[in-house]
Amino acid sequence: MGAQQVREAFAELYGAEPEGVWSAPGRVNLIGEHTDYNDGFVMPFALPHMATAAVSRRTDGVLRLHSSDVEGGVVELSSDTLAPESDRTWTSYPAGVVWALREAGHPVTGADIHLSSTVPTGAGLSSSAALEVVIALALGDLYELGLPRWQLARLCQRAENVYVGAPTGIMDQTASACCEQGHALFLDTRDLSQRQIPFDLAAEGLRLLVVDTQVKHAHSGGEYGKRRAGCEKGAALLGVDALRDIPYADLDAALARLGDEDEVRRLVRHVVTEDQRVERVVALLESGDTRAIGPVLTEGHASLRDDFRVSCPELDLAVDTSLAAGALGARMTGGGFGGSAIVLTETADVDTLTKAIEESFATAAFTAPRVFEAVPSAGARRLI
Ligand code: GLA
Repeated sequence: MGAQQVREAFAELYGAEPEGVWSAPGRVNLIGEHTDYNDGFVMPFALPHMATAAVSRRTDGVLRLHSSDVEGGVVELSSDTLAPESDRTWTSYPAGVVWALREAGHPVTGADIHLSSTVPTGAGLSSSAALEVVIALALGDLYELGLPRWQLARLCQRAENVYVGAPTGIMDQTASACCEQGHALFLDTRDLSQRQIPFDLAAEGLRLLVVDTQVKHAHSGGEYGKRRAGCEKGAALLGVDALRDIPYADLDAALARLGDEDEVRRLVRHVVTEDQRVERVVALLESGDTRAIGPVLTEGHASLRDDFRVSCPELDLAVDTSLAAGALGARMTGGGFGGSAIVLTETADVDTLTKAIEESFATAAFTAPRVFEAVPSAGARRLI
C-alpha cells in the first residue's frame, strides 16, 4: 500500500485525517551474522519492502491499533497499563514500542495507528523491526521527543527483547532506522558507530538476489537463545566482555584455551571469523573490488552451517544451487532456521540462476521459493 492509501484507510477507519504517514523498511544483511549480540560488526542494507503507518496522537491514554494485513478490527489498549506480554500477536510490536517509550520517561499519551506492511513475515527480512521502527519514528516526531535514530533503534530493541520476549540483537532495528539508499550500513554494534558504504551493484553489472525459502523462522523459540547463551559462555570462559574482544590473530590461542568445550568452540570460531569477514567485505567494497566479496559471503555461509549450525536444508540448497549455476557468492541471511538466502550474481546470469534455484526446490519437493532482487533502499522516513 502506498502512503496515500494508508492515509485514506486511516481516515476511513478513525473518521479523521492522520497527523502524518511514516515508513520503515525491512533489511537483508550482507555479512556479519550472529555477531550483533557479541558486540561485533554487521553490514545490512534496507529493502524496498517497508511498513507504513498513519498515526495521530491522543491525549486520553488510549492506543488504537489496526493493520490492513491482519484479519480483525481495531484493537484498543490502554497505554497506562501496557506490560510485557506472554501472548505474542502483531499488536505486541507497536504496543511494545509505546511501552518502551513510556518506560524511558517519554510522555506518549496514546495514539491512533493504522499499519500496512510489504515486508514478508517470518522470512528473515526484519518485518518485526520495520513495524517497531515505523511506530517509534512516528511517535518520536509527533511527540517531538528529539531522539536520534540510534536511540530509536535501542528503544525498539528493548520493545522486542522485553515486551515481545525475543532475545535479538540491535542490527535489524538499526538497519531499518539508519540505512541509506544505495548504501550498505557498516555498523559497530558495540557503540553503534556507523559508516555508509556505497553499494550500487547495478552500476557494476551485478545483482543481489534474495531467495525466500518460505520456511518460517521464529527468534523467540529456543535455538536463537541457545546460540546467544553459548556465545556468552564462551566470552566468560575466555575472560572477555564479549566475543568481539577476541582479535582474529588470537583465535587459535582462544580456541585452544576452550579445551573440550567443543560446542562453545564452534560458536566462538564463527563469531570471530565472521567479524573478520565483515572487515574484509568493507575493505573490498571500499577498494572497488565488489566481485571479490562473493567468496567471502560463501565462507560466511559455511561457517553458519557447520560451526554455528543455524542453516537448514532449504537454505543450503539455495546456496549450493546458486554456486553450481555460476553465482559469485551466496549465503543465508538473518537469524537462520529458515528464512532467506542472498545470492551475488552477474546481471546476465539472473534468469539462469533463478530458474536453477526454482528447479532444484521442485526436485527436492520443497515449497517453491520466492526469488526477488534486493536493491539498497532508503531507511525509515516521514512520507506525508
Ligand atoms: C536476527 C536478529 C538480529 C541478529 C540476526 C543474526 O535477525 O534479530 O539481531 O542477531 O538474527 O545475525
